[in-house]
Amino acid sequence: MQLLDGKKILSEIIEELSEQVKAHALKGQRPPCLVAVLVGDDGASQTYVSSKEKNSAACGFTSRILRFEASLTQEQLINEIEKLNNDIEVDGFIVQSPLPKHISAQKIFDAIAPDKDVDGFNTLNTGKLTKGMDSFVPATPLGIMELLKRYKIETSGKHCVVIGRSDIVGRPLSILLSLPNANATVTLCHSRTKNLEQHTLQADIIIAALGQPEFLKAHMVKEGAIVIDVGISRIDDASKKNGFRLSGDVKFDEVSAKCAYITPVPGGIGLMTIASLLQNTMKAYHAKFEN
Ligand code: GUN
Repeated sequence: MQLLDGKKILSEIIEELSEQVKAHALKGQRPPCLVAVLVGDDGASQTYVSSKEKNSAACGFTSRILRFEASLTQEQLINEIEKLNNDIEVDGFIVQSPLPKHISAQKIFDAIAPDKDVDGFNTLNTGKLTKGMDSFVPATPLGIMELLKRYKIETSGKHCVVIGRSDIVGRPLSILLSLPNANATVTLCHSRTKNLEQHTLQADIIIAALGQPEFLKAHMVKEGAIVIDVGISRIDDASKKNGFRLSGDVKFDEVSAKCAYITPVPGGIGLMTIASLLQNTMKAYHAKFEN
């Protein structure tokens, strides 16, 4: 079994992006700028957004976090988004989800200018993705594709089983894998799938993205399969200083003994999500400077 090391690939990508930032600086151009909008005080979101900011800075990007109280109205948030849409110093921005219940996440994602939508969540970018057109692709599925590419894992002709059909991971990933440059045969499983094991046991590549800790067990996995774990849940653990431990959707100890490659949690897809967000920000910046 070989670990697919998100930490190593994130460092490589930061190095590549830093070189590009330096090359632009030599031409007198400002660095790329990424803004994250955070509404409310969700603990996991705070951690993700801080990590995105820290890694942006490591590339030499400018980055900032805009924080708002959970009581912010949808209209006020749309106003803030309009300001970011019109700010020529901002190349890309994200609105971290989950959002408070009184705000429609899709209305918010659709208020983001498509050419600054580095999370790829708005309807125009989603539509372009389904047609195989150039677009901003959501960072987690893009990060999974990048990780497979960097480890030279072939997807063409392979049977990929995706577990979970969320808007931001499972569904876009199933599309990416089926497009002509990946050429996989894709099965998208979800909560209503019957005999899930029957599908996963046939998979060359399994992507677990359902958000249920330690769901995928060894008896569900074919010998020599490739296993990608997207889950990252906080489990109460009194023995830890912060009171919790992180768990993926895969029962790592038993599955890792059976598969050819596996991603760890933490240190796998979470870091690849950040890597792809940074690459998307560079893409937004390039589009601006090349026009
Ligand atoms: N919440 C969980 N993952 C993500 C992500 O990739 N982007 C945003 N904006 N919110 C998230």
